[in-house]
Amino acid sequence: MKNILVTGGAGFIGSNFIHYILEKYDDVHVVNFDALTYAGNLGNLLDVQDDPRYTFVHADVRDRDAVDAVFEAHEIDTVVHFAAESHVDLSITDPQIFLSTNILGTGVLLDAAKRHWSDAPEDKYCRTYRPGVKYLQVSTDEVYGALGKDGLFTETSPLLPNSPYSASKTSADLLTRAYGETYGLPVQITRCSNNYGPYQFPEKLIPLMIRNSLLDIPLPVYGDGMQIRDWLHVSDHCSAIDTVLRKGTPGRVYNIGGNNERANIDIVRLILKAVGKDESLIRYVRDRPGHDRRYAIDNTRITTELGWAPRCTFEQGMRETVQWYLDHSEWVEQVVSGAYRDYYRDMYGTAQ
Ligand code: NAD
Ligand code: TYD
Repeated sequence: MKNILVTGGAGFIGSNFIHYILEKYDDVHVVNFDALTYAGNLGNLLDVQDDPRYTFVHADVRDRDAVDAVFEAHEIDTVVHFAAESHVDLSITDPQIFLSTNILGTGVLLDAAKRHWSDAPEDKYCRTYRPGVKYLQVSTDEVYGALGKDGLFTETSPLLPNSPYSASKTSADLLTRAYGETYGLPVQITRCSNNYGPYQFPEKLIPLMIRNSLLDIPLPVYGDGMQIRDWLHVSDHCSAIDTVLRKGTPGRVYNIGGNNERANIDIVRLILKAVGKDESLIRYVRDRPGHDRRYAIDNTRITTELGWAPRCTFEQGMRETVQWYLDHSEWVEQVVSGAYRDYYRDMYGTAQ
């Protein structure tokens, strides 16, 4: 039996990953460790809450005692670290929490994994660990900074993060690497492109634009709307992480992306069309400071070395995603709490 510690499992990708793992494997125990910030929602996991293979622990990754207790109580052998502050716009207005959660939180987890898995925790030269243990750091393509018109990010591209969010994720990514190099901890790092799909909090582009168009609220497009992201359905991110856990080499970095570059404005238009609204709802607003122009992933390593490939086309994924938000208006309204309204007012200057 594998005992997987999934941090941030109540968030967008973490909850999709828990669903994915429990559907795919019988002989597994998933411990969801989540502080339930504004972005964490146990409503994402109602269908698994009584599954004997699932345990929820309400705690903060920066809390060393809580992390230690979980390693001890559940004999954790695998860590998949999603928990993070994840929204670039928030990192511009309130960077400190990003440094604390994303960097220090990662440090606490790495240290716990090292101590609990080491064959000789008191020996600083010990580089051997219990067989089969693994720590996977969920990083992002944003660590590479921005691209011009041409080129793709490979795993050896320079790390040049531009936002406080991406700088904090880069720090966590490098700390993970350091635990691999210095202590021989079996770490892996994945750097994925932008995800979309069910259970994404409506602060991010796609769910925000779907919700606004359904409610006839203006759609705020930053700058000229020609920034490009490389979009991947969240189910493909989950299968890629599972593939890296099963087949990846310790110490190695894997880019994850689906060769699917789209300009923001094209996505906004596609959403408006899908919900039957016209383009008069589009509002070009002041650009995000330090806005990265283009991200695009070279996924050669994971496709050729590990045999992973994305399965969901953008057309199918977007059709299903728009339908999911139409079918889950209750979920959307539940997460759109008072705190979200304050966030929206701060960000866009209007009450939704
Ligand atoms: P999210 O904001 O939806 O979820 C984050 C989760 O972490 C929430 O459940 C929150 O409650 C939890 N959390 C936050 N601080 C915590 C703390 N101190 N202790 C414990 N739990 C805490 O984020 P997401 O979009 O699901 O992203 C998950 C991970 O994937 C992040 O590390 C992010 O950097 C990375 N990533 C995201 C994308 C994307 O497109 N969303 C792409 C690549 C990588
Ligand atoms: P986002 O979903 O915040 O992801 P990231 O910044 O991590 O790529 O934003 C995706 C793109 O959409 C990014 O170029 C910023 C843009 N955007 C808007 O134009 N308007 C919005 O209201 C939001 C949230 C994002």
